[in-house]
Amino acid sequence: MLTKIGLDLGYANITLSDSTAEIYREPSVALIRKSPKVGQTRILAVGNAALTPEGGADECILARPFKNGMFFDHQLTEEVIMTALTPVRNKNGLRVVIGVPSDILPKQERDLFSMLDKAGVDTAFSVSRAVAAVIGAGYSPSISAVSVNVGGMSTEVAVLHNGELLYSSRTTLGGEDFDRAVKQYVLEQGDVNISLMVARAIKERLGAVWKGKPNDSIDIEGTLALTGNKIRMNIATEDIVGVFEKPIQLLINAIVDALKQVPANAVEAVLENGIILTGGAAELYGLDILISRVLGISVTRPERAIDCVAKGLSRINGFIPQKSKGGRNITAQLATLYVNTKK
Ligand SMILES: Nc1ncnc2c1ncn2[C@@H]1O[C@H](COP(=O)(O)OP(=O)(O)OP(=O)(O)O)[C@@H](O)[C@H]1O
Ligand SMILES: [Mg+2]
Repeated sequence: MLTKIGLDLGYANITLSDSTAEIYREPSVALIRKSPKVGQTRILAVGNAALTPEGGADECILARPFKNGMFFDHQLTEEVIMTALTPVRNKNGLRVVIGVPSDILPKQERDLFSMLDKAGVDTAFSVSRAVAAVIGAGYSPSISAVSVNVGGMSTEVAVLHNGELLYSSRTTLGGEDFDRAVKQYVLEQGDVNISLMVARAIKERLGAVWKGKPNDSIDIEGTLALTGNKIRMNIATEDIVGVFEKPIQLLINAIVDALKQVPANAVEAVLENGIILTGGAAELYGLDILISRVLGISVTRPERAIDCVAKGLSRINGFIPQKSKGGRNITAQLATLYVNTKK
């Protein structure tokens, strides 16, 4: 039987979901050995395997294949797709629905499809990530709502009215901006430099933008800005209150821009469901409540918001008729495909 997969190639994570909604996630990183010859590099490992300590040799670097919602290195992307599909490759055929950013260029999308082909994918379709996120959250493709997906580096916002995509945009803002805010704060408050990885750990464990998170603390390591000497310190939830103000303001601005685009005849239907908030960075404690209070609109953040895009892509794969030939950007057809599966 055909294996049907949803594939989300994100800046922070590569997430794959199969027809049982089982999730496979690996960090979007590759360990690369630079060659003295220009343009010649060797990819040593991809995903978790790239993060092993042995990988830290001098001539090696860690690279991210996807940036600004799109891949920026062909060789790396090909290798990453190959590796990501390893657990699901199947002799009976592989059909993939891939999530794409709202501003993907036709040439980039064609390249992506040819890479999927090289990676052994038999049939491929692409769908807007923001739309997939809503479907992955369990809603019907004919929903009216505002989808807000906050990833590692991008925020995708889409306005849907009865399944029609009225507006979509991508802003370069994501979890890494929250990490930078933590890093900057620790530097300003304690004259201590910490890595973005440490800042991310602080954010994920202690970060909160609304009251009610139980107090917690973690030990971290950094270097004194003045001397460069290593220092260990303890940071608590209450130490980083207010840290995320700037990136959150940008996020709110992006949502307001989208709301301004909702035509009068769609406002009532869209506001009934309000905002569906997904993506890993949306898991920041209290972010749903804060957005809802600031904008006066209902905000729903589904369980496992980080999985919604991949889950939606595999759910969409299930709507597509068995013998379909594949196609780029089938977002506009989803409501019809869905209705047909119910007949
Ligand atoms: N509990 C949490 N609290 C806050 N942030 C979190 C939490 N869990 C994960 N994140 C953040 O989610 C981000 C990754 O989310 P996601 O996997 O949706 O991104 P991505 O799809 O790879 O990126 P993009 O959509 O920008 O290409 C990281 O910045 C990570 O720190
Ligand atoms: Mg994403």
